[in-house]
This record gives sequence, structure tokens and C-alpha cells, in this order.
Amino acid sequence: MPRAFNFSAGPATLPEPVLRQAQEEMLDWHGVGASIVELSHRGPEFMGVAAEAEADLRKLIGVPDDYAVLFTQGGATAQQALIALNFADPGQPADYVISGHWGKTAIKQVKPYVDARIAASSESDGFRTIPDRATWTLSDDAAYVHITANETIHGVEFRDTPDVGAAPLFADFSSSIASEPIDISKYGLIYAGAQKNLGPVGISVVILRRDLLERAGQPRADIFDYRSQLKGESMLNTPPTWNWYLAGLVFKWMLAEGGVEEFARRNARKSALLYSVIDGSGGFYRNEVGPAVRSRMNVPFFLHDEALDKPFLKQASEAGLISLKGHRALGGMRASIYNAMPEEGVQALADFMQGFRKRHG
Ligand SMILES: Cc1ncc(COP(=O)(O)O)c(C=O)c1O
Repeated sequence: MPRAFNFSAGPATLPEPVLRQAQEEMLDWHGVGASIVELSHRGPEFMGVAAEAEADLRKLIGVPDDYAVLFTQGGATAQQALIALNFADPGQPADYVISGHWGKTAIKQVKPYVDARIAASSESDGFRTIPDRATWTLSDDAAYVHITANETIHGVEFRDTPDVGAAPLFADFSSSIASEPIDISKYGLIYAGAQKNLGPVGISVVILRRDLLERAGQPRADIFDYRSQLKGESMLNTPPTWNWYLAGLVFKWMLAEGGVEEFARRNARKSALLYSVIDGSGGFYRNEVGPAVRSRMNVPFFLHDEALDKPFLKQASEAGLISLKGHRALGGMRASIYNAMPEEGVQALADFMQGFRKRHG
């Protein structure tokens, strides 16, 4: 059976060459006589895999030397809580800019630990915009300012890095990391669950400016301490070796394909194609996000008649286009088109959408 084009928001499609390599190496990794997932994380084989993954990620997204890289468990949601424990004093203000669902989860996670303040929010307009920087109310003594670089559900993406003054900028890059070049030195910390652009679910990356580790933070167990994790090479306990290994293969694949500059070009073309089909459909399809902040990674859209949702999904699936159902918070459809989604997959979806409109318009 041929592989479908899978538009899932995460866990998401992985590059086929990566899956094939993992398949080939599954029973016998590099002649060791065992799978990498069966070997000790402290053995030379896996330690080599881990070191290469970090070196490749640094090269791929341009991590400066004064930044540390952690490979952690607990998903992006755990990092949302841990950033407060590691970098804010108990009850210290922390400013949050909310441009969608995940900004809301981020602030929820830190409420027990900090004075979580909403510096700006676009909730009143249904998260179809990003609040203008001039309207943000930032605290003088904030531990950090938090943004969500790309809102996976609402399809809203920051297109510039905001200047937030003295407090370090922390950003959730779960659904857009490595999709285009970014200047990491403008951030104090970025984090991302891997299951969209970096690999499989079960591992996250945290990239942080080393000097922030001098902050005392709040009482926390060693396992939740980024300083200890860094000292312990992200192996304070048994790490998710399979996920780490697979993410490492994805990093190598992205580098071989031309790196983030090349993916930025592909992602611009892919998203422009889908938005042009939606905008050119005479209202048959609609996306209500402000054009300047439309996501290049997640394209939510609605059909003009909800009764067509089911036939759309059924016919799409029959055409080999799967996982297009929108998040339950919004309804409608969503096409997630991360780095591993080939341009031909997006072209196939665009062709299908135009054909469906002709049949049902
Ligand atoms: C932007 C963003 N942040 C956070 C999360 C939560 O990630 P996790 O499930 O890894 O905790 C998601 C998941 O979809 C996301 O898209």
C-alpha cells in the first residue's frame, strides 16, 4: 500500500528516508548485533548517537556557543512548567503574550509558581491576529516574557522576533522550529516538542542561554533542574533513546536536504499554495487569520457549509490525503505541512480541494 500524504498536526509525518533507515537498522545497528534501542544509554554507541544529534541540531539551526542544548522528556507542556521553576523566583512576575491555545496552556502551567501576567492577548478576536507590540503591557521586574512562535491550532505565527527589552524572551517553538532560519541570540530560551518538525513524540529540545542557569529559581527536584540535566548530559535518568536516535536521523536528513534555508523556501511555497486555493475559492473555503500572521506550518480552514465536512474528509482520505480534521477546539479542517511534508503532498491537497469545490460548489 502506498504511503498517504499525512497532514497530522503531531505526531506528524516523518521523512520517508528516515523511516526506511530506521527500518534497516532496526535489528542490527551498525553491525553491533542489536538495535540501538536495546543498548545502554551510557554505552559508546548511544553516547555517540546523542553527541551527533546535538552537534547536528546546533549546525542545523545555528545554536550559538553560549547556549546549552537539552534533550528532555515530558513534552513541551512539562517545559512550560519547568521554565518558571528554573528561572523565576517564587511569585515573581512573568509576562505572557497569548496568541492562541498553546499560549493559554503555557500560562496555566506556571500559575502555581509565578505571578503569571497576560501582557497581551488576541483571544477577544478569536486568536486571528497577534497583538500589536505597542499594546503589550510588560512588567519591569518580569523573570521573562513568553510567546508561542507558532500556534498549532489557530494557525497564527509570529513573523518577527519581538523586542521585549531587558527581560529574556522565552518562546515555544514546538510547531515551527527548524522551519526557517532564526536568530537564537534574540531569545533567552526556546523549547519544542519534537513531534512536529524534529522527529517522534517522546522527546523535546530546550535551548537556553547559559548565563540564565545562574538564576536560583525555585525549590525543585533534581530531575526538574535544567542545571543538573545539563551536567548529566540530559541523562539523569534513562532517556528515550529511540526517540533521540530518530530525531538525530531527522536532523541529518534536514541538513542533507539543504538545511533550514531550503526548508524556509519550500515552506513558503507550500503555505502560499494552500492559502491561494482557500482565498481564491470564492468563499467555498475560508481562513480567517490576518494574512500577515498566517502560519506557514498549520493551515486551518473551514468549508462554507459544515455539512460538507464529512464528505470532504472521506473523499480526501480515499485520495490518500489523511488527518485533515481540524482540532476539536476550532472544528473545520487543518493541514499541517511541516518540513517532512513534500511539496507534491501539498500540491495533491490543493488539486483535491479545487476538485471538491467543483463537485460541491
Ligand atoms: C505550540 C505547542 N506547544 C505545546 C504543545 C504541547 O506539546 P506536548 O504534547 O509535547 O506537551 C503543542 C502540542 O501540540 C504545541 O503545538
